[in-house]
Amino acid sequence: MAPGVGLMSVLLLTLPLVTFATKPSFSIDYSQNCFLKDGEPFRYISGSIHYSRIPSVYWKDRLLKMYMAGLNAIQTYVPWSFHEPVPGQFDFSGDRDLEHFLQLCRDIGLLVIMRPGPYICAEWDMGGLPSWLLKKKDILLRSSDPDYLAAVDKWMGQLLPILNRNLYQNGGPIITVQVENEYGSYFACDYNYMRHLSQLFRAHLGNEVVLFTTDGAGVGYLKCGSLQGIYATVDFGPGSNVTAAFKAQRHAEPRGPLVNSEFYTGWLDHWGEKHSVVPTAAVVKTLNEILEVGANVNLYMFIGGTTFGYWNGANTPYSPQPTSYDFDAPLTEAGDLTEKYFAIREVIKMYKEIPGGVLPPSTPKFAYGQVQMKKLKTVSEFLDILSFSGPVKTLYPLTFTEMNQAFGFMLYQTVLPVSCLKPTPLSSPLNGVHDRAYISIDGIAAGILERNKALTINITGKAGSRVDILVENMGTINYGREINDFKGLVFNLTLGADVLGNWTVYSLSIDEAVHKGLLSASSGFISTSSSFNTSPPPALSPPTFYAGSFIIPDGIPDLPQDTYIQFPNWRKGQVWINGFNVGRYWPSRGPQITLFVPAHLLSISAQNNITVLELEASPCSSGPCTVEFTDTPVINGTVKSTGHYKKSSTDKTFWSRTILE
Ligand SMILES: *[C@@H]1O[C@H](CO)[C@@H](O)[C@H](O)[C@H]1NC(C)=O
Ligand SMILES: *[C@@H]1O[C@H](CO)[C@@H](O)[C@H](O)[C@H]1NC(C)=O
Ligand SMILES: *[C@@H]1O[C@H](CO)[C@@H](O)[C@H](O)[C@H]1NC(C)=O
Ligand SMILES: *[C@@H]1O[C@H](CO)[C@@H](O)[C@H](O)[C@H]1NC(C)=O
Ligand SMILES: *[C@@H]1O[C@H](CO)[C@@H](O)[C@H](O)[C@H]1NC(C)=O
Ligand SMILES: *[C@@H]1O[C@H](CO)[C@@H](O)[C@H](O)[C@H]1NC(C)=O
Repeated sequence: MAPGVGLMSVLLLTLPLVTFATKPSFSIDYSQNCFLKDGEPFRYISGSIHYSRIPSVYWKDRLLKMYMAGLNAIQTYVPWSFHEPVPGQFDFSGDRDLEHFLQLCRDIGLLVIMRPGPYICAEWDMGGLPSWLLKKKDILLRSSDPDYLAAVDKWMGQLLPILNRNLYQNGGPIITVQVENEYGSYFACDYNYMRHLSQLFRAHLGNEVVLFTTDGAGVGYLKCGSLQGIYATVDFGPGSNVTAAFKAQRHAEPRGPLVNSEFYTGWLDHWGEKHSVVPTAAVVKTLNEILEVGANVNLYMFIGGTTFGYWNGANTPYSPQPTSYDFDAPLTEAGDLTEKYFAIREVIKMYKEIPGGVLPPSTPKFAYGQVQMKKLKTVSEFLDILSFSGPVKTLYPLTFTEMNQAFGFMLYQTVLPVSCLKPTPLSSPLNGVHDRAYISIDGIAAGILERNKALTINITGKAGSRVDILVENMGTINYGREINDFKGLVFNLTLGADVLGNWTVYSLSIDEAVHKGLLSASSGFISTSSSFNTSPPPALSPPTFYAGSFIIPDGIPDLPQDTYIQFPNWRKGQVWINGFNVGRYWPSRGPQITLFVPAHLLSISAQNNITVLELEASPCSSGPCTVEFTDTPVINGTVKSTGHYKKSSTDKTFWSRTILE
């Protein structure tokens, strides 16, 4: 302070005194073991909300509910891939308008703990890293690999100036900024990388801002995760020994505030595993212990929201997360108040004043009922509409990255080189189907290959028969050393003893086609008369589009309202409503049964259009061909199968599931 005093007194003559007196500041007080806000000891009680998982129209509602619970801060991640989908093309508009989100936080009275990555984990595709980084095949992500750093520097050159003008000391809500994310859990342990990030953040944000790291509450994690000059914090959940956990933080930071950056209010889900539930009593008990020792805490998640579209990630061994990111958090996926919310509020009340006034109510839900769906065409029949860039001929298969496609589906076509009169194994010997392949021979469904789960099927067919393989990217691994998770057919397929070759690969622009209305009923409607026959439903059909529409009824006040869509007797696929990619449904595996549909997607002045891509089999040839909008979510359905697909020639159903659990 001393060298500046002279200058300051000169400035005081010209600046209004109030500007000087209220110059906001946020720092660490190592002598009192706390944060200082504007010079006063300060403790935050924060909650995680990912703006990327909540439609922007609902940001204010969710933030207000967080404020009313007694929180004084929120914590959020920035998913790089969400903002730089193509190298050099940055998107901060609409649901990606981070600065608008920050302004709402400030207006409501919530401080912000910022986690800009570049890696975030977050059960987000590839932990937030854009898959185009894999253009360099052997890139070492999250390290000082020069190509990785060059991309990071460019991205941070866009992001950090936005954060800088929203820092607390610059009049904004951001009090602290995290560097990387649980880096101590990553194998690379590259201190030069962490040093590079630290310097980069300092260069853009200045020396005043509090930078921090977060790691598991164990000395082993803090070894590679923390760095001199960046404040080390820990994360741990209910049931942990709070004393032991903070002892681990003290090992890295002998003085300064105690901070749990991720206190788990619930837990994440995977397809094929039981829905995670964490009892309120356990959350409340440990939260109380944390607050009792005067620690700062962030509740992860306070509202989980929805991983719309293709944005979900996956854990290893390959296990993708469902569309709902409800997390069993105190506010549900749809922002509803739960008993956990009120119980947490009671705990917070013991430690600080909570705002008075009326709580914003849960948003009303409406059951619009059943909607008749019509079969359009299969993906293969729609190729002229779906493949904007046209096919690429290649001897051996190309990955999504090689085809410049980030998400969704690609079609691989070839022909049977020989006749397979007897059932012949079509295999992925190196487990190279990333992640699920829907195979048909001459337009007839022949089976499904699935990463780690089904590496071979038997097929029959004549030499020259067309083989169509639609490969689904089910979400890129977001944690651990396998985040270089290439998609598509990443290794050769074999037929009998021979490697299959001579492929035609189609990049598919399904989302663009749906958005432009190219897949409307008029362009591709196939008469259903042949569908309503008496033969039993095929257990498996080639991936096929369906469309339906509904009108929101007149005379009911306050419509449209939020709703949930479910797929009775459908199997697995993707759904768009009025062109918006709502996400993946997979009721045949569970546990998620309904998908959250926020009201702003619906129109009261036009018919609402539903597009479904069903990958396995729809109920449409045998029974009611409907999807249904209900007012009640079901994300804890019974898990029906996690297992192998087995073709049985004696089984009338053709496909049977072996339940592994
Ligand atoms: C919690 O950890 C502390 C410090 O390691 C230890 O002294 C204490 O016995 C532990 N408490 C329980 C209940 O295990
Ligand atoms: C393929 O057929 C062979 C011979 O009929 C059989 O032994 C094998 O189990 C079948 N494989 C699969 C994956 O169905
Ligand atoms: C496919 O096999 C060929 C011939 O063995 C090999 O050269 C090529 O690298 C393989 N490609 C993939 C993607 O596995
Ligand atoms: C690809 O096609 C060529 C020409 O028809 C043929 O000679 C070759 O064996 C095929 N390669 C593979 C791997 O199928
Ligand atoms: C649904 O599709 C119809 C026909 O293409 C179109 O007129 C209508 O505007 C669409 N509805 C919405 C909400 O976009
Ligand atoms: C799912 O949750 C609901 C509401 O909390 C509960 O009533 C139901 O028993 C749960 N079902 C399963 C299968 O756990």
